[in-house]
Amino acid sequence: MMNRFTLILCGLALGACSSVDNTLTSPDGNVSLSFGLTSEGQPEYSVTFLGEQIIKPSTMGFDLKDAAPLTSGFKIDKVTHSQADETWTPVWGENSEIRNHYNTMTVSMSQKDGDTVRKMDIEFRVYDDGAAFRYIFPEQETKQFVITDELTQMAMGGDYTAWWIPGDYDTQEYEYTRSLLSEIRGLSTKDQMNNVSQSVFSPTGVQTSLMLKTPSGKYLNLHEAALIDYPAMHLNLNDTTMTFTSWLTPSPDGTKATFHTPFKTPWRVIMAGDEATDILATDIIYNLNDPCALDDTSWIHPTKYMGVWWEMITGKSSWAYTDTENFDLATFDYSKAKPNGRHGANNANVRRYIDFAADNGFDQLLIEGWNTGWEDWFGKEKDFVFDFVTPYPDFDIKALNEYAKSKGIKLMMHHETSGSIPNYERHLDQAYDLMNHYGYNAVKSGYVGNILPKGQNHYSQASVRHYLDAVKKAADKHIMVNAHEAVRPTGLARTYPNLVGNESAMGTEYQNMSPAHVTILPFTRLKGGPMDFTPGIFEMDLSFAPGNTEHKRATIANQLGLYVTMYSPLQMAADMPEHYAKKMDAFQFIRDVPVDWSESHYIDAEPGEFIIAVRKDKNSDNWFAGGVTNADARDTNLKLDFLTPGSTYEATIYADASDAHFDTNPEAYIITKQQVTSADTLPIHMAPGGGFAISFVIEE
Ligand code: NOJ
Ligand code: CA
Repeated sequence: MMNRFTLILCGLALGACSSVDNTLTSPDGNVSLSFGLTSEGQPEYSVTFLGEQIIKPSTMGFDLKDAAPLTSGFKIDKVTHSQADETWTPVWGENSEIRNHYNTMTVSMSQKDGDTVRKMDIEFRVYDDGAAFRYIFPEQETKQFVITDELTQMAMGGDYTAWWIPGDYDTQEYEYTRSLLSEIRGLSTKDQMNNVSQSVFSPTGVQTSLMLKTPSGKYLNLHEAALIDYPAMHLNLNDTTMTFTSWLTPSPDGTKATFHTPFKTPWRVIMAGDEATDILATDIIYNLNDPCALDDTSWIHPTKYMGVWWEMITGKSSWAYTDTENFDLATFDYSKAKPNGRHGANNANVRRYIDFAADNGFDQLLIEGWNTGWEDWFGKEKDFVFDFVTPYPDFDIKALNEYAKSKGIKLMMHHETSGSIPNYERHLDQAYDLMNHYGYNAVKSGYVGNILPKGQNHYSQASVRHYLDAVKKAADKHIMVNAHEAVRPTGLARTYPNLVGNESAMGTEYQNMSPAHVTILPFTRLKGGPMDFTPGIFEMDLSFAPGNTEHKRATIANQLGLYVTMYSPLQMAADMPEHYAKKMDAFQFIRDVPVDWSESHYIDAEPGEFIIAVRKDKNSDNWFAGGVTNADARDTNLKLDFLTPGSTYEATIYADASDAHFDTNPEAYIITKQQVTSADTLPIHMAPGGGFAISFVIEE
């Protein structure tokens, strides 16, 4: 293969043969990428990791509307190499510094289509833990490109094991399936979920980030970085050749992306590690994004919050104030409407939450169902459901803000858009202005239902553009954003650190998902950025909500462990005050656990089985450890050699009781305290569906 590339390059590169180097190797030499043109003049690459070809020769290119495809006839005009080694400081994160160390190669190419010469460059970067590339369309004679398909292949080196969710233009809210690539077709879960907006496109389509394991035990992950002004990429598998091809979310007219030159596509990324923990630890996705675009980030704060939320999700109370449906918000008179008596966001209840949040050291309180329109929102594809500024009659926004402020709590705004992007964009200025007026500094937005205008999907180019526009506009107004049902993140929080959270996966709102789920998310969904997973459920039997027959499939120690295993600068204590009040000893961990870290280490992990992590608080010398396991119990020993040698710490250990079990005995936990040093080892027991959490408080 190498010889063929070299020969072709020599034949085609304009007199540059001797300087053309078609191989790019990582700084430590473990990852290497080869590039060349096929005999038809199509770009092609392959990737080797620790001597194993993890990506076999894979072709690259595009189909264009009304123009010859960008898949043949290319010649290489220039190849340039360079490297970078820099360290940057994230505004928030798992570590206080991030090293960005790579070798890079840009291949400039051109293709003749009649009299038109099209130019396309491919920029490659190779890191010690992966490889990435993006297409660059320089300024040229063709001013606008209309992409009808991106044809980037990722040819697998074998029938790898994958942790996958079905390719879908609208939702990532699925449980993961673990299978061989060859088994995906037979297991495709097209009808498994019943999401209000769902568009599966192929029985072998999967979403990124896609976690993989080779038969030799290497771990890979395929994702994209810096998704800007372009549709989200899924992957479609040819399960005969084991080759993935990029599959972009379409626009309503069936084309995929339209852009003007100059333009850079998102990065296509292959992460690689010889341990599962390498995939958890890699920062490639953030490193591929641009540095922070905001001059002032002093207003961006990691946040621990509670919410008037779980009581609606479980069905104990309602978002809506009345039971009336089908009306026009502009003319409906709420003062004459009959209250349904179940409205959660009422003055007295909100005050109760404010009191509890303030007494327990929280920063913020989310309140959903505070604004008019909820009677008429669910799955209706109605353009105008919410105006984002009018409170319900029993929610005194001014008085509640003053009360919250007097207690040191900020209220977190909630904007459910009902999927109507046009309506949200029409109201966005006034919605953010209301927040500024009352001093709200964070918004949870949401895009439930089919996206409007009709024909758009959650992950199509126009929607992707909207989500980032909303984040940029929020940054102008010093507002942090936590967007649910938006496109899954691709590291844009490096550039716009006010994007403090996304959902874009199954979170706690799915009440009885399998215990394995939380051992997979950090390998997949979290690679692009933090998730508002909303852990911390303490009352597992949900029958406190009339008619709810479900129960949470997790132990209490598991729920505590998530605050460490599932990194996010935004962590919710999702259960209700009255449930925490019954178990204040366990709740102490949620009070204590930080949301910003100077150092993080993944001790051991296997996707779908377990994760154990330790982190150091950014604002003290205290350490925290957490672990979660799937439906299998697990015993291990945690070596405390991460602690500072010579210091003594008081360890508070929140563990599963010996008879705890996620289904039969989920609320059985034991809390013990002991003094430890870095020379100690702690035995850890995790029950089925369980976990553990430990705080290590340094003694002066
Ligand atoms: C779905 C979100 O994920 C959930 O957190 C929210 O409560 C509902 N939509 C209502 O907006
Ligand atoms: Ca959701």
